[in-house]
Amino acid sequence: MTERIFNFSAGPAVLPVPVLEEAQRDLLSLPGVGMSVMEISHRSKTFDEIIGNAEAGLRELLGIPANYHVLFLQGGASLQFSMVPMNLLPPDGSADYILTGSWGKKALKEAKRVGAANIAATMADGGFTRIPGQDELQLNPKAAYVHITSNETIEGVEWKTEPGVGDVPLINDASSDILSHKIPVEKYGLIYAGAQKNMGPSGVTVVIIRDDLLQRIPDGLHTMLDYRTHTENKSLYNTPNTWGIYILALVCKWLKEKGGLAAMERENIEKANLIYDAIDATSFYRGHADPDCRSIMNVTFRLPSEELEKRFATQATAQGLDGLKGHRSVGGIRASIYNAFPREGCQALVSFMRDFERKNG
Ligand SMILES: Cc1ncc(COP(=O)(O)O)c(C=O)c1O
Repeated sequence: MTERIFNFSAGPAVLPVPVLEEAQRDLLSLPGVGMSVMEISHRSKTFDEIIGNAEAGLRELLGIPANYHVLFLQGGASLQFSMVPMNLLPPDGSADYILTGSWGKKALKEAKRVGAANIAATMADGGFTRIPGQDELQLNPKAAYVHITSNETIEGVEWKTEPGVGDVPLINDASSDILSHKIPVEKYGLIYAGAQKNMGPSGVTVVIIRDDLLQRIPDGLHTMLDYRTHTENKSLYNTPNTWGIYILALVCKWLKEKGGLAAMERENIEKANLIYDAIDATSFYRGHADPDCRSIMNVTFRLPSEELEKRFATQATAQGLDGLKGHRSVGGIRASIYNAFPREGCQALVSFMRDFERKNG
């Protein structure tokens, strides 16, 4: 048996071991099918069942109401930065973007190529360390939609509750916190997320879209970029990422067996608090995000110097704690501790932090 290390990668990220084991067991031949899941038609009855399980799993875990479609697309969350405005930002309208980190900025950049996109609030000045208060939002009540990023993966800053946006559809890039806790889906017009952090491997993007928004889509979009193509064809207009959808279905099954999102959230908060408590216990480590905006998925912190941060990440890797180097755009240390990341890994990191400070503080 090959030893598994603690994988703190921001994504693609650690997957549940029971999911990997089941996929391994059935890799050559799905029970009763005699072929690998990668070898079967996406139009087969077997795959119908797999994609049905994936959708049912997400619907059950997230409590997705019946008037929402669940799509399995490709192109990553990054393609959604374009598809959202192409489908939902009319030529005579405008959209509001609330910027709490690097990914929101990228989403805004693509929206601006399509039409008028306003910054309703940006936390850039403080280095994206917090979520704006409701009174800081300059929202246009006539906006086509309001876009947020519920968890900014790079900065480690997370919305704890949705902003009030009235009747304007709220759109959320939930790539790095989907399935980490329960969310009131009915408060959103559209939620999108790349699978590769909490749902499965890269190459699948989940889009949850409220049915009435489809009526706003202009005619003339390229077929693959029009949400209606995918709702009408149940994500099977072209060949989807069959393998990715299969793993996503297994991840949903694993989550349900663990007790669903409420149980997962409790575990995630406990895991994150182990590391945040270690950060707060000393002035050697400095958390990036304001305490009430801290992400439970991506814990970001600094050391007294970049040189020490480099040494920290290198020595941690040597001890089987991999992927702790912060994103190249902001530096520092980032511990990504998604659903499948084990509590023992957080404890191991805390021990390593204490030891590192003793030797270098
Ligand atoms: C919050 C967020 N949005 C968007 C992306 C981009 O996702 P993708 O690589 O699937 O396009 C990421 C990737 O890390 C992310 O964390």
